[in-house]
Amino acid sequence: MIGPRTFLEYQNYRYLKVALSTLFLSIVVYVVDDPPGGRSGSSWTGYGLGTIAAATIFWLMWLGIRKRSYSATGASLKGWVSAHVYLGTGLLFLVPLHSAFEFGWNVHTLAYALMCVVCISGILGVAFYALVPTSMTRNRNNITLDAMLERIAEIDSECRMAADGLPDYYAHAVVTSIDDTRIGGTFRSQLSGKDADCGTSRALRSLRTSEVDLDDEAKEQERKLIELIARKELLLKQIRRDVRFKGLLDLWLIVHVPFAFATCAALIVHIFVVFWYH
Ligand code: HEM
Ligand code: HEM
Repeated sequence: MIGPRTFLEYQNYRYLKVALSTLFLSIVVYVVDDPPGGRSGSSWTGYGLGTIAAATIFWLMWLGIRKRSYSATGASLKGWVSAHVYLGTGLLFLVPLHSAFEFGWNVHTLAYALMCVVCISGILGVAFYALVPTSMTRNRNNITLDAMLERIAEIDSECRMAADGLPDYYAHAVVTSIDDTRIGGTFRSQLSGKDADCGTSRALRSLRTSEVDLDDEAKEQERKLIELIARKELLLKQIRRDVRFKGLLDLWLIVHVPFAFATCAALIVHIFVVFWYH
């Protein structure tokens, strides 16, 4: 994901301007037009605005494909997201102009309601990206997460060495820290951002409260071990916080994408019904 500041400002708000001009022109046409049967979705203006709205929606769906296509040429992904956000938000106003502000308990209004859910979730998503520190959004591709996991593996092997020659009590703590530490897990535990039963925290507690008698050299080893496990605990905290942010960042997409498909389905029915009965 690209930082929101950069895609919102993309090329000096080019797509905000496109969206606002489209809306402005639509309002002008809507106001000037005085069709014989009164303003409605079935006037020529209504058909025109409906067609623009439908074309925009199908184009917005394309982002899912464009996002994953690394070989694509043409406008940058940043530009695509910028256009997506502004043209998508514009639809909230364009569609009521299309239907001449008429709504009812029918499949037409269902299409609009579903679309509103998509747009609002999208706006929330953008707000999320804006609120979460940019360092996090930049790192969505897991580069730092991988580096941190690697560091943890290193600490684990350093712990094994540090515990070498110490009484079993210490080896046991190291094994607990290695075997009972979980990152990720279910979506819920990812979102909680912590693990109340973390093996590393337990190991650290048992090391700090150890009452085993040690000679000076072993004491030095113990100190090193505590330092390592404490560092690991800190890293884990950071990783769990990052995983949590990533989970939160994707939460809105769970609404956005399925409702986007549902909107398209209802829209196809809407268009079909309209041509069937008119
Ligand atoms: C090719 C695109 C479209 C065409 C040809 C079209 C056509 C029409 C027509 C003819 C009507 C009037 C229906 C009537 O008076 O009974 C209408 C109403 C309506 N359309 Fe569309 N439309 C299109 C796109 C859209 C889109 C994209 C949406 C929203 C997602 C939408 C939502 C509505 C709504 C809410 C109404 C008002 C329903 C009511 O009066 O209760 N339309 N449309
Ligand atoms: C009818 C309107 C809309 C449709 C059909 C639509 C559809 C989609 C689709 C299919 C994706 C791709 C998701 C994926 O594959 O991961 C997407 C992503 C996205 N949408 Fe929308 N969307 C709409 C409106 C909006 C609005 C109004 C906003 C914000 C104001 C928005 C913001 C976003 C963002 C930020 C992404 C993620 C881009 C990324 O991960 O890089 N969308 N949308």
